[in-house]
Amino acid sequence: MKKITVLQGDGVSDEILSSAIKVLDKVSDVFDIKFNYSYAPIGGRAYGIEGHPLPNSTIETCLNSDAVLLGAVGDWKYDTLEPSLRPEKALLGIRKALNLFANLRPVTVFDELLDSSPLKNEIAKDADIMIVRELTGDVYFGEPKGISTKKTLDGRQIKVGYNNMIYDEDEIERIARVAFDAASKRRKKVCLVDKANVLDVSRLFREVTTRVSKEFSDIELSFMYVDNCAMQLVLNPRQFDVILTGNIFGDILSDEASTIAGSLGMLASASMSDGKTPFMYEPIHGSAPDIKGKNIVNPIATILSAAMMLKYSFGQKEACDAIYRAVKEVLKDGYRTKDIFSNGNILCSTDEITDKIIERIYK
Ligand code: IPM
Ligand code: MG
Repeated sequence: MKKITVLQGDGVSDEILSSAIKVLDKVSDVFDIKFNYSYAPIGGRAYGIEGHPLPNSTIETCLNSDAVLLGAVGDWKYDTLEPSLRPEKALLGIRKALNLFANLRPVTVFDELLDSSPLKNEIAKDADIMIVRELTGDVYFGEPKGISTKKTLDGRQIKVGYNNMIYDEDEIERIARVAFDAASKRRKKVCLVDKANVLDVSRLFREVTTRVSKEFSDIELSFMYVDNCAMQLVLNPRQFDVILTGNIFGDILSDEASTIAGSLGMLASASMSDGKTPFMYEPIHGSAPDIKGKNIVNPIATILSAAMMLKYSFGQKEACDAIYRAVKEVLKDGYRTKDIFSNGNILCSTDEITDKIIERIYK
């Protein structure tokens, strides 16, 4: 019996989670694995119920499970709340509470979706990248941070905002290892993306990563500045195997990379700890409150996140592959949600495409 905590957030969260759970139920039947679900609120929903976006009870529920599946959090209606109560804060909080320092964001291009990519087919085709994003450090968590005041030379009081991009050697070492491990199961290349021409923290990142690379003699390590990487991703994405990067650069580059795959609605992610706390799985997209409840959201990113859970938390690679294969078949048969629809396809609702995927899950 595998205990899964389902973190219910905002916007389209319910719809995408219910799709992923239907898929997991089918996997349960086909592969004879039993799942037990506990539900806990997070983000704006939790604020509405408990007055806090990340209640202790939610953290406790997660800690008592084998894996966590998260919808998405955030809604414009919470934009005026003080920063510590905003839904996004809960996401950062749960990542920290579960010590999820390694975020794996695979960018896989389904051939069937090449026409949905704004890139030319021949550029996007066969791109296959694993973004390894550090998730519990960087400007997201660095101290000191805040908004204070200062006096200008001409005597005015003005506000000043600041965050600290900071990594220590231990933090770099452990994320570098994750990247090298990932590369050793792939095409054996790691590209560290940073801003070492300007930032001291990036220079340390290079130094430590180079040191760790000595333990992985069969892996080729290269370096790239983040501005160049942003360009290279759309010029020639096939050059990348594993991209290793810090929290903020990884956030930005993974959204960009999703365009290669055709839609933000396609990209899954796994967030991992040192193994002492459960891993968490979530789509990389947001909560899309504008399309909430319309049954049009693309559930594939969340379904693929559940597939990653099967592989990384439960060691069920076969079941994971069965989901990927089912998604591929559905796309090949022309079924599409609105975000990936092009002429000649069959337009599906969230429920319909979920059912089509479920029908295609077999051993
Ligand atoms: C992501 C998101 C989050 C992040 C936000 C919602 C806090 O953009 O998971 O990529 O910046 O990490
Ligand atoms: Mg992001």
